[in-house]
Amino acid sequence: MKLVRAKTKKDYQLLVNIDRECFPPGDVCTDVDDWKTGECYLVWVDGMLVGATALVLNKYFDWTTYEYEPAPGCMYIASTAILPTQQGLGYGRQVKEWQIKLARKRGCFMMKISTREANIAMRSLNKSVGFKVVGIIDPAYSEPTERGVDMELIL
Ligand SMILES: CC(C)(COP(=O)(O)OP(=O)(O)OC[C@H]1O[C@@H](n2cnc3c(N)ncnc32)[C@H](O)[C@@H]1OP(=O)(O)O)[C@@H](O)C(=O)NCCC(=O)NCCS
Repeated sequence: MKLVRAKTKKDYQLLVNIDRECFPPGDVCTDVDDWKTGECYLVWVDGMLVGATALVLNKYFDWTTYEYEPAPGCMYIASTAILPTQQGLGYGRQVKEWQIKLARKRGCFMMKISTREANIAMRSLNKSVGFKVVGIIDPAYSEPTERGVDMELIL
Protein backbone atom coordinates (compact mmCIF):
# COMPACT_ATOMS: atom_id res chain seq x y z
CA MET A 1 0.00 0.00 0.00
CA LYS A 2 1.18 3.50 -0.86
CA LEU A 3 -0.32 6.74 0.45
CA VAL A 4 0.42 9.70 -1.80
CA ARG A 5 -0.24 13.28 -0.72
CA ALA A 6 -2.76 15.08 -2.96
CA LYS A 7 -1.21 17.95 -4.91
CA THR A 8 -2.82 18.45 -8.28
CA LYS A 9 -6.30 19.53 -9.34
CA LYS A 10 -6.84 15.96 -10.58
CA ASP A 11 -5.87 14.56 -7.15
CA TYR A 12 -8.47 16.79 -5.46
CA GLN A 13 -11.10 15.71 -7.97
CA LEU A 14 -10.30 12.09 -7.12
CA LEU A 15 -10.82 12.89 -3.42
CA VAL A 16 -14.28 14.28 -4.17
CA ASN A 17 -15.14 11.25 -6.35
CA ILE A 18 -14.07 8.84 -3.59
CA ASP A 19 -16.18 10.77 -1.05
CA ARG A 20 -19.22 10.49 -3.34
CA GLU A 21 -18.80 6.71 -3.55
CA CYS A 22 -18.14 6.16 0.15
CA PHE A 23 -20.34 8.58 2.10
CA PRO A 24 -24.01 9.57 2.33
CA PRO A 25 -24.76 12.84 0.43
CA GLY A 26 -24.69 15.01 3.57
CA ASP A 27 -21.11 13.97 4.34
CA VAL A 28 -19.59 14.50 0.89
CA CYS A 29 -17.03 17.30 0.77
CA THR A 30 -17.05 18.94 -2.66
CA ASP A 31 -15.15 22.11 -1.72
CA VAL A 32 -11.45 21.84 -2.55
CA ASP A 33 -10.65 24.63 -0.06
CA ASP A 34 -12.15 22.46 2.70
CA TRP A 35 -9.95 19.54 1.65
CA LYS A 36 -6.97 21.88 1.82
CA THR A 37 -7.63 22.50 5.55
CA GLY A 38 -5.69 19.31 6.08
CA GLU A 39 -3.24 16.91 4.50
CA CYS A 40 -5.01 14.67 2.02
CA TYR A 41 -3.69 11.36 0.79
CA LEU A 42 -4.80 8.98 -1.95
CA VAL A 43 -4.44 5.30 -1.11
CA TRP A 44 -3.00 3.06 -3.83
CA VAL A 45 -2.56 -0.72 -3.87
CA ASP A 46 -0.70 -2.27 -6.80
CA GLY A 47 -1.34 0.81 -8.91
CA MET A 48 -5.08 0.80 -8.16
CA LEU A 49 -6.79 3.62 -6.28
CA VAL A 50 -8.60 2.09 -3.28
CA GLY A 51 -9.38 5.05 -1.05
CA ALA A 52 -8.34 8.27 0.61
CA THR A 53 -7.72 9.92 3.94
CA ALA A 54 -7.62 13.51 5.21
CA LEU A 55 -5.79 14.53 8.37
CA VAL A 56 -5.74 17.85 10.19
CA LEU A 57 -2.73 18.47 12.40
CA ASN A 58 -2.66 20.51 15.60
CA LYS A 59 -6.40 21.13 15.41
CA TYR A 60 -9.65 19.34 16.17
CA PHE A 61 -13.15 19.77 14.85
CA ASP A 62 -15.38 21.51 17.35
CA TRP A 63 -19.01 20.46 16.83
CA THR A 64 -20.31 23.43 18.83
CA THR A 65 -18.69 26.01 16.54
CA TYR A 66 -18.49 23.82 13.42
CA GLU A 67 -14.92 25.04 13.03
CA TYR A 68 -11.46 23.62 13.45
CA GLU A 69 -9.97 24.88 16.70
CA PRO A 70 -6.28 24.87 17.67
CA ALA A 71 -5.11 21.76 19.53
CA PRO A 72 -1.31 21.49 19.61
CA GLY A 73 -0.14 17.86 19.48
CA CYS A 74 -3.45 16.51 18.19
CA MET A 75 -4.07 14.83 14.85
CA TYR A 76 -7.73 14.96 13.81
CA ILE A 77 -8.73 12.29 11.31
CA ALA A 78 -11.15 14.23 9.14
CA SER A 79 -11.84 11.40 6.72
CA THR A 80 -10.95 7.80 5.95
CA ALA A 81 -12.61 6.11 3.02
CA ILE A 82 -12.09 2.82 1.24
CA LEU A 83 -14.04 2.37 -1.99
CA PRO A 84 -17.03 0.02 -1.56
CA THR A 85 -15.59 -2.65 -3.89
CA GLN A 86 -12.37 -2.69 -1.84
CA GLN A 87 -13.87 -2.77 1.66
CA GLY A 88 -13.40 -5.73 3.98
CA LEU A 89 -9.96 -6.56 2.59
CA GLY A 90 -7.90 -5.08 5.41
CA TYR A 91 -7.09 -1.77 3.68
CA GLY A 92 -8.95 0.34 6.27
CA ARG A 93 -6.86 -1.23 9.04
CA GLN A 94 -3.63 -0.61 7.10
CA VAL A 95 -4.59 3.05 6.62
CA LYS A 96 -5.40 3.35 10.35
CA GLU A 97 -1.99 1.91 11.27
CA TRP A 98 -0.32 4.32 8.84
CA GLN A 99 -2.22 7.28 10.39
CA ILE A 100 -1.04 6.32 13.88
CA LYS A 101 2.56 5.96 12.70
CA LEU A 102 2.40 9.35 11.00
CA ALA A 103 0.93 11.01 14.10
CA ARG A 104 3.82 9.66 16.20
CA LYS A 105 6.35 10.74 13.57
CA ARG A 106 4.89 14.27 13.66
CA GLY A 107 5.23 14.40 17.44
CA CYS A 108 1.51 14.21 18.19
CA PHE A 109 0.42 12.86 21.56
CA MET A 110 -3.21 12.28 20.68
CA MET A 111 -5.56 11.52 17.80
CA LYS A 112 -9.24 12.40 17.53
CA ILE A 113 -12.00 11.24 15.21
CA SER A 114 -15.74 11.73 14.96
CA THR A 115 -17.98 9.21 13.33
CA ARG A 116 -21.66 8.55 12.74
CA GLU A 117 -23.14 6.52 15.59
CA ALA A 118 -24.30 3.83 13.16
CA ASN A 119 -20.87 3.46 11.56
CA ILE A 120 -20.04 0.17 13.25
CA ALA A 121 -17.15 -0.59 10.88
CA MET A 122 -15.25 2.60 11.72
CA ARG A 123 -16.12 2.50 15.39
CA SER A 124 -14.91 -1.08 15.82
CA LEU A 125 -11.77 -0.47 13.77
CA ASN A 126 -10.96 2.54 15.97
CA LYS A 127 -11.68 0.57 19.14
CA SER A 128 -9.48 -2.30 18.01
CA VAL A 129 -6.44 0.00 17.84
CA GLY A 130 -7.14 1.61 21.21
CA PHE A 131 -9.46 4.59 20.53
CA LYS A 132 -11.91 5.29 23.36
CA VAL A 133 -15.31 6.99 23.16
CA VAL A 134 -15.03 10.43 24.80
CA GLY A 135 -18.33 12.04 23.83
CA ILE A 136 -21.63 11.87 21.97
CA ILE A 137 -22.62 14.79 19.76
CA ASP A 138 -26.36 15.17 19.39
CA PRO A 139 -27.16 15.89 16.65
CA ALA A 140 -23.98 15.96 14.60
CA TYR A 141 -24.70 14.79 11.09
CA SER A 142 -27.39 15.60 8.56
CA GLU A 143 -28.82 13.74 5.54
CA PRO A 144 -29.61 11.57 7.44
CA THR A 145 -29.68 13.27 10.84
CA GLU A 146 -27.64 11.24 13.27
CA ARG A 147 -25.70 11.45 16.49
CA GLY A 148 -21.92 11.48 16.31
CA VAL A 149 -19.41 9.61 18.42
CA ASP A 150 -16.16 11.35 19.37
CA MET A 151 -13.22 9.01 19.88
CA GLU A 152 -9.69 9.64 21.11
CA LEU A 153 -6.42 7.77 21.16
CA ILE A 154 -3.63 8.84 23.49
CA LEU A 155 -0.33 7.94 21.85
C1 LIG B 1 -14.72 2.15 7.67
C2 LIG B 1 -13.82 1.69 6.53
C3 LIG B 1 -12.73 2.71 6.29
C4 LIG B 1 -13.16 0.35 6.93
O1 LIG B 1 -12.28 -0.05 5.89
P1 LIG B 1 -12.19 -1.56 5.40
O2 LIG B 1 -11.04 -1.65 4.47
O3 LIG B 1 -13.50 -2.00 4.91
O4 LIG B 1 -11.87 -2.30 6.78
P2 LIG B 1 -10.91 -3.53 7.02
O5 LIG B 1 -11.21 -4.61 6.04
O6 LIG B 1 -9.50 -3.06 7.12
O7 LIG B 1 -11.40 -4.00 8.45
C5 LIG B 1 -10.83 -3.44 9.61
C6 LIG B 1 -11.77 -3.55 10.77
O8 LIG B 1 -12.90 -2.71 10.57
C7 LIG B 1 -14.03 -3.33 11.18
N1 LIG B 1 -15.01 -3.61 10.13
C8 LIG B 1 -14.82 -3.49 8.79
N2 LIG B 1 -15.96 -3.76 8.14
C9 LIG B 1 -16.88 -4.05 9.09
C10 LIG B 1 -18.26 -4.35 9.07
N3 LIG B 1 -18.92 -4.45 7.92
N4 LIG B 1 -18.91 -4.53 10.24
C11 LIG B 1 -18.26 -4.43 11.42
N5 LIG B 1 -16.93 -4.12 11.51
C12 LIG B 1 -16.27 -3.94 10.36
C13 LIG B 1 -13.56 -4.58 11.85
O9 LIG B 1 -13.18 -4.24 13.17
C14 LIG B 1 -12.33 -4.91 11.03
O10 LIG B 1 -11.42 -5.65 11.78
P3 LIG B 1 -11.20 -7.23 11.50
O11 LIG B 1 -10.67 -7.34 10.14
O12 LIG B 1 -10.24 -7.63 12.55
O13 LIG B 1 -12.56 -7.84 11.62
C15 LIG B 1 -14.65 1.44 5.24
O14 LIG B 1 -15.70 0.56 5.52
C16 LIG B 1 -15.21 2.71 4.61
O15 LIG B 1 -14.51 3.40 3.90
N6 LIG B 1 -16.51 2.98 4.84
C17 LIG B 1 -17.18 4.12 4.21
C18 LIG B 1 -16.61 5.45 4.63
C19 LIG B 1 -16.65 5.63 6.11
O16 LIG B 1 -17.66 5.37 6.77
N7 LIG B 1 -15.53 6.11 6.66
C20 LIG B 1 -15.38 6.43 8.06
C21 LIG B 1 -15.83 7.82 8.36
S1 LIG B 1 -15.51 8.25 10.02
